[in-house]
Amino acid sequence: MPKYRHLYEHMVTYSEKANLMSASEMDDLFDPAHYAETLADFGSARTLPAWCYTDASFFQREMERCFHSNWHFIGHESEIAEPGQYIAVDLVIGPVIVIRGKDGEIRSFANTCRHRGARLLENGQGHCATIVCPYHAWTYEHSGNLRGAPAMEEMPEFCKEDWGLIPFRVEQYGGFMWVTSNGELPALTDYLGDFTSRFEGHDFGAMRVVRRETYDIACNWKVLAENALEEYHTGVVHSNSLGQQHSVPVETLGRWCALFIASETSLSILPGETSVLPHIATLNSPTDDGTYFTMLYPNTQFACSQDSMWCVTFHPVSPEQTQVRVAFCFPSGTVALDSFEAESQKYFHRWITGIEEDNAIGPVQQQGLRSPASVPGPYGPKEFTVHEMNKWTVRCVTDQ
Ligand code: FES
Ligand SMILES: [Fe+2]
Repeated sequence: MPKYRHLYEHMVTYSEKANLMSASEMDDLFDPAHYAETLADFGSARTLPAWCYTDASFFQREMERCFHSNWHFIGHESEIAEPGQYIAVDLVIGPVIVIRGKDGEIRSFANTCRHRGARLLENGQGHCATIVCPYHAWTYEHSGNLRGAPAMEEMPEFCKEDWGLIPFRVEQYGGFMWVTSNGELPALTDYLGDFTSRFEGHDFGAMRVVRRETYDIACNWKVLAENALEEYHTGVVHSNSLGQQHSVPVETLGRWCALFIASETSLSILPGETSVLPHIATLNSPTDDGTYFTMLYPNTQFACSQDSMWCVTFHPVSPEQTQVRVAFCFPSGTVALDSFEAESQKYFHRWITGIEEDNAIGPVQQQGLRSPASVPGPYGPKEFTVHEMNKWTVRCVTDQ
């Protein structure tokens, strides 16, 4: 019996009783009744049960339902501008390569050799004339075709044409690339809904990724994603940097949600700092009036401010481990300015300071969520977007 149950049973509500059972004690972890209070109206709703952040079977269901049937963010096509340039990265669908071919086409493949499965390319960015397996040197073209396989001509039934790399779908919006292993999935632009029209003025095609950072954090991916969707914590967690922010909800269509923080000057530098980098010329109200903190379900945030943007992916590694991947972006015209090198340091400082403060509070929440006495709580008045995202998760895992 969980250690603290007897202390609480006389005073708890339904959801609290359910939560005081360990996930393994529950008859059906995915019974919609467990999540009814999360799906309630914002004013009376409760946060997700703690097992959603700790339990292995919940995590597995979430990966199957919320991630496998979605597009996965990779980066910007300008990062692989030349033939042979690639990005290799681990996704929930496994290790993936995105590479530009000699014909200029961008293709994606499973990063696994067709011989005995070795990883072909190290994670990261690079350039290769051909993709050569480090194990027995099977060699693949950028198109995925198998070009050579040492000694395999001695095997009478072997036919090179049968052993090309496993392709994935790759699609772009505004030069940003996404992949999926799901052949049935609607087109990327369907998935993005009205995200595409809202941010037309940001001219994503002209954005350039100028820096990437990666962090390994000991908490569930939703802990970090939810944190990125509320400013309730900013006056506390970022008291010495960003300070308290003030957001309003954004109505969205499609698989994304967002909050908006109005500010005359960019939120991409710390309060009190000034920058000579220009606002994006093609912006109009309201995108020129502040910063949109979006979440493209399930796990990618595009934070779009007036002069720059940053893309954050919360990659789930295990129930209690997440890799945070950040791409810092500016318009190509801004990158070309003489002042960019010096001015951009202010932006990196603000982004990295904020992200590291968020990364530090995530494991603190995770440690508390492990308590058998951790029961769903009420949402704060500025946590409307967390509620939106939690409802989306519940609907995915319970088929509601
Ligand atoms: S596993 Fe790749 S060549 Fe053998
Ligand atoms: Fe934060």
